[in-house]
Amino acid sequence: MSIVNVDLLALATNPLYFSTLSVTNISTPAISLLSYDNSWSQSVLYTNATARLLVDLPYQAFHEGGVYDAATHALYVSSNYQSLQDPINMTIIHLNQDWSVNNITASQFPNLQEANGGTTFYPVGANISAPPPNQVWCDQGDFIHYSGLVSVNPESNSSNVVLNNFLGPRNFSSVNDARQHPITGDIWFTDAAYGYYQNFRPAPTIPQQVYRFEPATGVLQIVADGFVQPNGLEFSSDLKTLYVTDTGATGPDLNLTRPATIYAYNISPNHRTVSNRRTFAYVDSGLPDGIHADTSGNVWAGCGDGVHVWN
Ligand SMILES: *[C@@H]1O[C@H](CO)[C@@H](O)[C@H](O)[C@H]1NC(C)=O
Ligand SMILES: *[C@@H]1O[C@H](CO)[C@@H](O)[C@H](O)[C@H]1NC(C)=O
Ligand SMILES: *[C@@H]1O[C@H](CO)[C@@H](O)[C@H](O)[C@H]1NC(C)=O
Ligand SMILES: *[C@@H]1O[C@H](CO)[C@@H](O)[C@H](O)[C@H]1NC(C)=O
Ligand SMILES: *[C@@H]1O[C@H](CO)[C@@H](O)[C@H](O)[C@H]1NC(C)=O
Ligand SMILES: *[C@@H]1O[C@H](CO)[C@@H](O)[C@H](O)[C@H]1NC(C)=O
Ligand SMILES: *[C@@H]1O[C@H](CO)[C@@H](O)[C@H](O)[C@H]1NC(C)=O
Repeated sequence: MSIVNVDLLALATNPLYFSTLSVTNISTPAISLLSYDNSWSQSVLYTNATARLLVDLPYQAFHEGGVYDAATHALYVSSNYQSLQDPINMTIIHLNQDWSVNNITASQFPNLQEANGGTTFYPVGANISAPPPNQVWCDQGDFIHYSGLVSVNPESNSSNVVLNNFLGPRNFSSVNDARQHPITGDIWFTDAAYGYYQNFRPAPTIPQQVYRFEPATGVLQIVADGFVQPNGLEFSSDLKTLYVTDTGATGPDLNLTRPATIYAYNISPNHRTVSNRRTFAYVDSGLPDGIHADTSGNVWAGCGDGVHVWN
C-alpha cells in the first residue's frame, strides 16, 4: 500500500494536479492512499499497513451495514436492492478464529423485507457487559410492508419489529441507517426516500428527518430536520457530537449542486437532543454514505472513490 502526500499549495493553483499522481490512475490495480495531513501516517494508518481483496461477487453484495456479531463470529452486510422478486440479502462473512475469512453466504432474516443500514443492538434488559446479542436493521419496506426498525438475533435467526410507523397515521419513507446510544439505549435513525427512488416504495408522505426512539418506552422524537436525504449517522466516541450525512446529491437524479455533506451537532448533556448544526465536511467524490467515528475522534465515510477519513 502506498501513501501519497498531497501538496496542498501545488493543488491550490493547479486543477489538474491530481492527474499527475499515480494514485488517481484507476487502471493501476493497487490500493493507494492520498494523505492531506501528517496525522494520517502518524496516527490513523501506519505506512506499513497492508490491504488485500477478500472477495468480489457478481452483484452488489456489500452495500450497507457491516455489523459484527460475536456469537456467530461473522460480519453482516446488506446487499443493494435489485428487484421485488430478488429481495435484499444479508451477505454473511463467516470468520475464522484468526479473523481471516472462512466463507461467505447470502441469507435473509425473518420479518426483514429490504434491509439497508444496521448496527449492533442491546434489547431492553440485555446484559450490557456482554457483547451485543442482537442487531437492529433499517427495513426500507416495500409496497406492502411498512418501513421501520427490525431487531434480529443472528444466532437464533429470529427477529421482531421494533418500530414501523410515526405515531400512528404516518409512514416512514425508507429508513436508512441507525445507531444505538450506548448510555440511553435509544435508537437514533435516519429516514430517506431511496426506496421510492429505487421504485419499491410509495412516494414519501413525511419529510426526510432524523429520529430518536426509546425502545423501553416507545417515545419517538425528531432530532433534526432540514435535510435533502439524511443517510449515515454516528456518535463521536465521547458522545458529545452527532454526525449525519446528507446524500441529497443523488435522489431522483444525480445533481452535484445538492448536498454530499456531513453535518455535526452538539448532543445535549441528557443525550436526547442536538443543537449547533454546522457543516463538518463536504465530499468532492461521490457521497458520504455510511459513516463511523473511531476512538481517536476521526470520522470515516464510504465515498465515491473509496474511504475518506477526517481528523
Ligand atoms: C495509468 O496506468 C497505466 C498502467 O500502469 C499506464 O499505462 C498509463 O499510462 C497511466 N496513465 C497515466 C495518466 O499516468
Ligand atoms: C506497523 O508500524 C507500527 C508503528 O510503527 C507498529 O506499531 C506495528 O507493529 C507495525 N506493524 C507491523 C505488522 O509491522
Ligand atoms: C442474493 O444472493 C444471491 C446469491 O446467493 C444472488 O443470486 C442474488 O442476486 C442476491 N440478491 C440480492 C438482491 O443481493
Ligand atoms: C433465517 O430465516 C429466514 C426466514 O425465515 C430464512 O429464509 C433463512 O434461510 C434463515 N437463515 C438461516 C441461516 O437459517
Ligand atoms: C453479563 O455479562 C458478563 C460478561 O459476559 C458476565 O460476566 C455476567 O455474569 C453477566 N451478567 C449476568 C447478570 O448475566
Ligand atoms: C402506510 O403503509 C401501510 C403498509 O404499507 C399502508 O397500508 C398504508 O396505506 C400506508 N398509509 C399511508 C397514510 O400512506
Ligand atoms: C439541481 O438542483 C438544484 C437545487 O435543487 C436545482 O435548482 C437545479 O435546477 C437542479 N439542476 C438540474 C439540472 O436539474
